[in-house]
Amino acid sequence: VSSNGEPSRLLLRDLAQVVSAAGAGAPLRGSELGEVAVLEDAFVLCDGARIAEVGRMRDLRAVDGEVEEVDGRGLCALPGLVDCHTHVCFAGDRVGEFELRARGSSYEELHAAGGGILSTVEATRAAGEEALRAAVRRHADWMLHAGTTTFEGKSGYGLDREIELASLRAISVEGGIPTWLGAHAVPPEYDDADAYLDFAIGEVLPEAARIAEAADVFLERGAFSADQARRYLEACREAGLGLRLHGDQFSEQGAIGLAVELDGRSVDHLEATGDDGIRQLAASDVVGVLLPVAALVLGRPMPRGRELVDAGAAIALATDFNPGSAFCESLPLVCSLACTQLGLSPGEALGAVSVNAAHVLRRAERIGRLSPGFDADVVLLDAPDWRHLAYHIGGEVVSAVVRSGRLAWRR
Ligand code: NIG
Ligand code: FE
Repeated sequence: VSSNGEPSRLLLRDLAQVVSAAGAGAPLRGSELGEVAVLEDAFVLCDGARIAEVGRMRDLRAVDGEVEEVDGRGLCALPGLVDCHTHVCFAGDRVGEFELRARGSSYEELHAAGGGILSTVEATRAAGEEALRAAVRRHADWMLHAGTTTFEGKSGYGLDREIELASLRAISVEGGIPTWLGAHAVPPEYDDADAYLDFAIGEVLPEAARIAEAADVFLERGAFSADQARRYLEACREAGLGLRLHGDQFSEQGAIGLAVELDGRSVDHLEATGDDGIRQLAASDVVGVLLPVAALVLGRPMPRGRELVDAGAAIALATDFNPGSAFCESLPLVCSLACTQLGLSPGEALGAVSVNAAHVLRRAERIGRLSPGFDADVVLLDAPDWRHLAYHIGGEVVSAVVRSGRLAWRR
């Protein structure tokens, strides 16, 4: 609300292009995923926290009353990007492990030796809630500067009652959408996964379910088995949480089948998914969330994005921002990898980080599109053509970000 009591309005004008997914509904699949509506020489008018109007400059009527204007010459407007898979709440770093991997150790070896995720658990447990909030805020700022206006954040580095709940609160207070990753690894005080799950389900879930929107599990050799994942997810579903899985990262352990059986929202990673998994996912409502930075960093095969889309699967793309496998907050870089490594077009990458990512977070009615009535979340690219989102690899492609109708950041 501005000084005169009117809801504040923001006019992004003289934009080179205004771009949004063209296909209706969510998730977008097959050829619809790549269809993009481009308006040249256009504007976006935000009224309070909502988009009021989108159109060509020649159709812009006089806007009376107080309006803040942004000169969009040479810039493209895209929907604020949606990062549907991040691990933002952690303390410390794993730069030492990064060097060990650069020298030839593998991620799974380091994990089995008690490093990896468990070393971040140790640092996170030692941090305290205020420090965790500061860490989430710092990471959310990095994401904002890369064009992300909505992010999901997972817990999973506490693995005890206090720090799991503190992590979920920190994510929520700092504007993220919290997912309880209670089954990320077995913490050192338990010698088997089932005993840990008894504790997590019995002692943490009741409170976690009041803060989080979804639950997640790392279904993988060395982490949780399919039976353990089923038990955890069924309990989480019973408590009202949406279901997500880290699956097929290193090996196929039945994650897709389990997600389909339990009506999960997504299976994320899919680097190891074979032909049957692609078919099974394509025939379902489960979204495949592809995380090409993790595949790149760990030297794994890339997920088969082209084949998934062609088979009719709904896919989204995300950073997987975390201290181990993907210390990267940039969805534009993810789009670059999608176009150069996964065989996707710029339009498909855009649909995957907007509408389809919003669908994974059950917000596709409100975010992910530049349409009247949607949240006024807009990225302004420093480029005359929206495809620079993916084309400008690792570049400073974001010029400004509008969130909830306000200029939240400008380069
Ligand atoms: O999505 N695969 C498991 N979890 C994360 C990595 C977490 C970490 O290494 O700290 C992932 O890649
Ligand atoms: Fe992850």
